Amino acid sequence: MTHEEAAEARLLAALIDAHQQDCAQLSRVLHDEVGQILTAVGLQLELLRLDFREQLPALDARLAAIQALLETAVSRIRRISYDLDPALVEKAGLAFALEQLVGRYRQKFDGPLRLMVDLPERLPDDVAKAFYEIADRALANAVQHAQTPRIEVLVHPSAEGSVLEVRDWGVGFSRHPPGQKIRGLGVLLMEHFAARAGIRLSIESILGQGTVVRAVRPNASVSSRATRD
Ligand SMILES: Nc1ncnc2c1ncn2[C@@H]1O[C@H](COP(=O)(O)OP(=O)(O)OP(=O)(O)O)[C@@H](O)[C@H]1O
Ligand SMILES: [Mg+2]
Repeated sequence: MTHEEAAEARLLAALIDAHQQDCAQLSRVLHDEVGQILTAVGLQLELLRLDFREQLPALDARLAAIQALLETAVSRIRRISYDLDPALVEKAGLAFALEQLVGRYRQKFDGPLRLMVDLPERLPDDVAKAFYEIADRALANAVQHAQTPRIEVLVHPSAEGSVLEVRDWGVGFSRHPPGQKIRGLGVLLMEHFAARAGIRLSIESILGQGTVVRAVRPNASVSSRATRD
């Protein structure tokens, strides 16, 4: 990355951080305020139903139908609030957050999109967050550019450390075509998030065969051994 690109990526990351703060606030309002109020309305309806069901049997079914609608609204609001919450990784763990993310990409991608997470230990929050951000951009690219029949997202331990891989079997690309700079933000941001969390990032792509985005967070013992050697 050139100095210019690094400055650009830092600026973008600051903008993304600010955007994420706005999302966090909206997510809180939806969950804690709107969601709670609707839940309270549902409880009041339930009390009303119980109080009047003998005197007004017709009301019983009507109230139950309204309650069912309310429950749908509450669960939609919960879902949106989750999707918006940038702290989901910290709160619910990487595996859960990745499931939500992959679920969103499944709606934009027709082929199979598999997620396999094997994490014996919880990753530090900053690493988990960076894995999530990298997976998000790598998935966006696989869905938008790869024309791939399928996509896999893997998180697993290895001898080098904790690994995240996003694989596709699509058209591939050459990262630095002669005379042409990659101008997208995705790759730049993946590199930035990786560098910030001490993650090694590699993007291997073979034309006509596909692309593997690989992020490795070295084990503490592996890196100290590397320093000793
Ligand atoms: N998985 C992939 N398969 C095929 N081409 C890819 C893949 N990932 C990236 N590319 C190519 O690399 C370019 C740069 O990717 P990058 O994510 O940086 O930018 P972008 O996707 O074009 O734009 P943005 O991410 O800002 O929406 C893409 O335009 C695309 O040509
Ligand atoms: Mg992109």
